[in-house]
Amino acid sequence: MRQKIAAGNWKMNGTSAALDELTALSKAPPMAECTIVICPPAPLLYRAVEQSSGTAIKIGAQDCHTATSGAHTGDVSAPMVADTGASYVIVGHSERREAYEEQNSDVLSKAEAARDAGLIAILCLGETLEDREANNTLDIIGGQLTGSVPDGANSTNLVVAYEPIWAIGTGKVPTFAQIVEVHDFIRTELNNRFGTDTGNSISLLYGGSVKANNAAEIFTAENVDGALVGGASLKAADFLPIIEALANS
Ligand code: 13P
Repeated sequence: MRQKIAAGNWKMNGTSAALDELTALSKAPPMAECTIVICPPAPLLYRAVEQSSGTAIKIGAQDCHTATSGAHTGDVSAPMVADTGASYVIVGHSERREAYEEQNSDVLSKAEAARDAGLIAILCLGETLEDREANNTLDIIGGQLTGSVPDGANSTNLVVAYEPIWAIGTGKVPTFAQIVEVHDFIRTELNNRFGTDTGNSISLLYGGSVKANNAAEIFTAENVDGALVGGASLKAADFLPIIEALANS
């Protein structure tokens, strides 16, 4: 049985007032086998951990450096993230791959750093619209998987999130068949590399314009185990129906 995960990526949104949303989320009834992860901006990590302790909500960071410490002004290392009490970290988000030119090899090192710090990496993959239109989606995703998923990955250190770049923040969602195709492909690749016991245990999330009105259908796909949600995770009132759709899937 794979873990169902509803993860919220707040991106660069939210100051301390946003912590009230955690309180609102924590009032959700307990949902079996459904983990809620909130990834707030780094300055809120410690308080978010404190505020969600004793609730079903787990906290994650949005990035980490590859090194454990050193002269990297402005960066945060995986052991620092773990020290806040957070248990997850997003690596390889397309916004970082694009804005900071992060390559698969960088994402691999970040996922290894996360693993070594005892964190679960939420490793993001996704194709551009150009890739999609040129029929290169599976090649791109396959290359990202090979290049950025560490050896020894398993369900205790890795979650994979498929986020087509053209679907992020645009309101455009792939067809159900497109989501199924990519998630089935990722599952097969993980099974081939790590064996079926391990491959089948790793949760796969879909991300890109997930909202209350499309979540339930997306969650019917066999290899979609949850969602990585941006905009609709900022307010508990928007995120809760997505969590409920996952719990009921
Ligand atoms: P949206 O849900 O706002 O499209 O963002 C998706 C995302 O990038 C989550 O990491």
